Amino acid sequence: MAAEVEIVQGDITTEEVDAVVNAANSSLLGGGGVDGAIHSAAGPDLLEACRAVRRDSLPDGLPVGQAVATPGFRLQARWVIHTVGPNRHAGQTDPALLESCFRRSLALAADLEAESVAFPAISAGIYGWEPEEVARIALRTVSDYDGRVRLVRFVLFSDRMAEIFRRARP
Ligand code: AR6
Repeated sequence: MAAEVEIVQGDITTEEVDAVVNAANSSLLGGGGVDGAIHSAAGPDLLEACRAVRRDSLPDGLPVGQAVATPGFRLQARWVIHTVGPNRHAGQTDPALLESCFRRSLALAADLEAESVAFPAISAGIYGWEPEEVARIALRTVSDYDGRVRLVRFVLFSDRMAEIFRRARP
């Protein structure tokens, strides 16, 4: 069955969902933007968990378009799903990579039995993608999704981004 899709303006770190998706970088060791906000809100255990993932299973880092989960620690969300969007400034312009972030995050959420998932506008900040393109790819990928996740909430930091997502709704 298809998931219900919601588009809201807000801060993803306060979302009461089973899993929040982090727009991370390959190092998984934190950064700015939503990544920094999630690490601050979840507390230092999140960084420790990310270090353990690197040590135990991803010594070379998380490839672009893939996803990995850690607990949410101090977040309301039980899980953080870390994914790495394509960086347009590094010449990563293939939409399939961004689509893969959404698809793999949803697949991982389903494996974790998460029924509700919040996404930020992956790659629409520091990684330089056009918000309209991110919104189109995100909404299309989620509307094509057919699995166990029941609710997908896009949590956009600005009113402008929320409006762009609403307009891109198929
Ligand atoms: N809640 C929801 N959305 C947010 C929040 C928040 N608390 N904070 C920022 N955003 P970005 P990227 C929005 O730059 O483009 C990091 O350094 C933000 O306004 O966070 O994928 C990583 O470590 C924008 O619309 O992610 C990587 O190095 C959206 O989240 C790099 O940035 C995504 O912006 C990833 O860049």
